[in-house]
Amino acid sequence: MNNVNCGLEGVVVAHTRLSDVDGERGELVIAGQRLEAWALHGEFEERMFVLFREAGAALEASADSQALLEQRRQFTAHNGRAALADAMDALRAGLAQLPSDADDMRDALCAIGRAPGVVAAWAQSRGITGANHETANAEATVNHAAWYSSQLGLAPTPVRVRALSTYWNTVMDHGMNASTFAARVVASTGSDMISSLVAGVGALKGPLHGGAPGPVLDMLDEIGSVDRAKPWIMAELDAGRRIMGMGHRIYRVRDPRAAVLERAITELQEAGATNARLSLARAVERAASDILRERKPDRPLCANVEFYTAVLLDSIGIPRELFAATFALGRMAGWAAHVMEQRRTGKLIRPASIYIGTAPSAE
Ligand code: COA
Repeated sequence: MNNVNCGLEGVVVAHTRLSDVDGERGELVIAGQRLEAWALHGEFEERMFVLFREAGAALEASADSQALLEQRRQFTAHNGRAALADAMDALRAGLAQLPSDADDMRDALCAIGRAPGVVAAWAQSRGITGANHETANAEATVNHAAWYSSQLGLAPTPVRVRALSTYWNTVMDHGMNASTFAARVVASTGSDMISSLVAGVGALKGPLHGGAPGPVLDMLDEIGSVDRAKPWIMAELDAGRRIMGMGHRIYRVRDPRAAVLERAITELQEAGATNARLSLARAVERAASDILRERKPDRPLCANVEFYTAVLLDSIGIPRELFAATFALGRMAGWAAHVMEQRRTGKLIRPASIYIGTAPSAE
């Protein structure tokens, strides 16, 4: 029993060329580039194809880009699954009904191309967002971030599109995180790309992984003003609850993605967007870091990516009900690349367990 590692902490299960997370120094490298260089410039799809190439995919650049654009139009309104109460459930259901082509690249582009429309249609059918922006269907050749903005009824202004691209580039890949591992486990059985991506969505939905930014915004709203931050956090911890957006399995310092997203929010503000929550968020982060340092001196607990995701997505007009799904739309590129990489190992991921149940009777 001594050998059981329930959370698989520190267990290495793959070689990867996709990203490297240095939790001690707070550094992230994606496809050979430092996070800042990778995230703050470049479009989502451009970065996605770089990852696919790193994963060993043979790309036909213009044909694959065209295939992605064409997939967007294939989406039909019933994919929105209005009856489902959660955007992640709608995304899971929308992806699950896609046929698998047994070709990883075609399946990935099909899923990634259609996913923004699935999320947006769900939001529209629930009355969370307005109708599609008028340019959405007229201009299918816009980039992925502009397309999603338009589908949500948000004008695809250059500032909004840049902020969303930076966000997606930032969250596209992050080592062997839980949802990536889930996608790789499914792929390791020889199952198809679509099934692997559905597994990723299921894992990402949990509040310990990708479901935190909505609750972070709820927390900021409940706190309301800087002077209430400390008492609120202390009461929360006294009640045995965790502070959302704080702590990380790998990082022992501040998550470098928090800094990149904070910078993107500042750039948005310089371009005229206003969001009073940024200064509140900074104060809450400071208060939470101080209190957690006092209460858990042996376990550094700093802001993670979700903390400023909440403020960034809010600043560009994305409703909080869509935060986790919007995260998934970016991370899908990483999952797909990992599936391609996993295929090359040809090895089934199959850990072991130790039986602690009743022993059968002797006869
Ligand atoms: N608030 C308060 N305490 C926290 C905490 C948080 N956000 N995160 C971890 N801790 C505490 C735990 O209670 C535990 O304390 P204990 O040893 O006294 O029981 C200790 O720190 C270690 O926590 P553990 O759950 O073992 O660490 P982990 O590596 O498995 O967890 C997270 C990592 C991300 C799941 C965890 O930090 C967390 O739940 N954060 C909040 C949710 C969140 O922001 N998720 C998004 C992640 S990107």
